[in-house]
Amino acid sequence: MADTSNAQKIAAEIRVKNCQGCHGLLGDSTTPEIPRLNGQTASYLFTRLHSLRYPIREAPRAIHNMGEIVPQLQSQVIAALANYYADQAPTKPLAMTGTSEGARLYKFGAGKDVPACAGCHGVDGEGRGNAPRLAGQRADYLELQLRVFGLSARIADPMNRHVWLMTPEQMRAVATYLGG
Ligand code: HEC
Ligand code: HEC
Repeated sequence: MADTSNAQKIAAEIRVKNCQGCHGLLGDSTTPEIPRLNGQTASYLFTRLHSLRYPIREAPRAIHNMGEIVPQLQSQVIAALANYYADQAPTKPLAMTGTSEGARLYKFGAGKDVPACAGCHGVDGEGRGNAPRLAGQRADYLELQLRVFGLSARIADPMNRHVWLMTPEQMRAVATYLGG
């Protein structure tokens, strides 16, 4: 019990000192390529923060930005940070309506090689199980992640094999559809 509240205190200090300058006060980043953390699922934030300790799994850019801070954080502090951001209201997506190419890809996939994203990430992009929330995430960040998955510069099963056959236009279309 004492450990948990101490971890929460440390997490609150770190958030103000080390996170909010880039990710925003509530995790609601206003910078195109810096992801939003507000309303992201706690389990995904927890997993990704641990993943950012491993340069072999993460793109050089992610390691450059996050790699110096994250290895210094204890798991309990990571859990407290994840819970804090998960509790903040998510940003509303701008355009998750209509029948654009992005909407079709998200809901139905493209042929046998690109599965429907909704099957794992949820009908409204809200995130489910291990699959993170995508709705309301920064579109530039989403597109960048699809590109680095496609290049296997970020390794995260099952995303790599899902995006290997996506075209750059499809990546942009689905990122634009989901973005907030
Ligand atoms: C120098 C700016 C910077 C600072 C400081 C920073 N971040 Fe980040 N963070 C980034 C960028 C840029 C990315 C995206 C990396 C990528 O392209 O994969 C990122 C990614 C993340 C992700 C992954 C999000 C996702 O959707 O997968 C989490 C979680 C995260 N940061 C949490 C934190 C926390 C917690 C702190 C404070 C301990 C912090 N960041 C400090 C810039 C920063
Ligand atoms: C079989 C399930 C599954 C399907 C289908 C799927 N995803 Fe994912 N996706 C995941 C999981 C699990 C992760 C988390 C990987 C990790 O741990 O870093 C993820 C991560 C992502 C991320 C990284 C988010 C972030 O915050 O960094 C993006 C972007 C993404 N998926 C987009 C898509 C798109 C677009 C599609 C459809 C073309 C899709 N996914 C289809 C399971 C899936």
